[in-house]
Amino acid sequence: MLDLFGKAILDYQTQNAPEALITFTSISDEDEMDVAYLFRPYDLMPKIEQKALQLSYGKILDVGCGAGSHALSLQNDRKLDVTAIDLSTNAIETCRLRGLSNAIVTDVLAFNPAEQFDTILLLMNGTGIFETLVKSALYLQHLKSLLAPNGQILIDSSDLIYMYDADEDGGAWIPSAHYYGELTFTVRYKGQTDETFPWLYMDYNTLQNAAVANGLHCELITEGDHFDYLAKLTHL
Ligand SMILES: C[S@@+](CC[C@H](N)C(=O)[O-])C[C@H]1O[C@@H](n2cnc3c(N)ncnc32)[C@H](O)[C@@H]1O
Repeated sequence: MLDLFGKAILDYQTQNAPEALITFTSISDEDEMDVAYLFRPYDLMPKIEQKALQLSYGKILDVGCGAGSHALSLQNDRKLDVTAIDLSTNAIETCRLRGLSNAIVTDVLAFNPAEQFDTILLLMNGTGIFETLVKSALYLQHLKSLLAPNGQILIDSSDLIYMYDADEDGGAWIPSAHYYGELTFTVRYKGQTDETFPWLYMDYNTLQNAAVANGLHCELITEGDHFDYLAKLTHL
């Protein structure tokens, strides 16, 4: 794994000449992403993320924590018990440098701790980690196994239908070969080889259907300003 995202995060943390990340997807053109965004304090988080933090309680797991901004807010401002995990060694090193007490390098699918969690957070298009619609079942089943009996999974995503052209009747031209939220995401950083990976956006109904099919109840908590939403999954 090239871990370009993680390298940019660690460069920003250690002041090692950080540069903006260039990102593009299978349905969108190149865009610059300021790495500082991944270090956002509570006040600069989108309202759906603030809502997720407000609802967090008990023993918390932040999945795909990146630079650890959500976990740090819960640990430092709310004095809550948080564990943060990420695939990226560089991201987890950054979390530790920022003072996060429990930060672990692991793929969520390989994470099998002895205890379960009351709150599991997946934020900044949390469904992205599921890769594809077919694989979302695998991830949901595993997240369910990590969830305490009365616990909650708080996850955000967006309905990407607005990215597709409309026909004369107002219907959208969407791909027929796969679900329209299944993208490939490419990251470019400091002239290194591009890193491309599958990245899944799920509209709320599709997430709800996948959740129920995998034995989880799904509730819409709030919607953001740009087709984005926060959902809560609990045991049925
Ligand atoms: C879009 S970033 C979000 C970071 C952070 N949650 C935030 O809101 O700033 C997604 C993160 O998920 C991590 N990730 C992707 N797949 C993962 C997996 N299977 N297990 C653990 N972490 C994963 C990536 O390394 C990346 O840091």
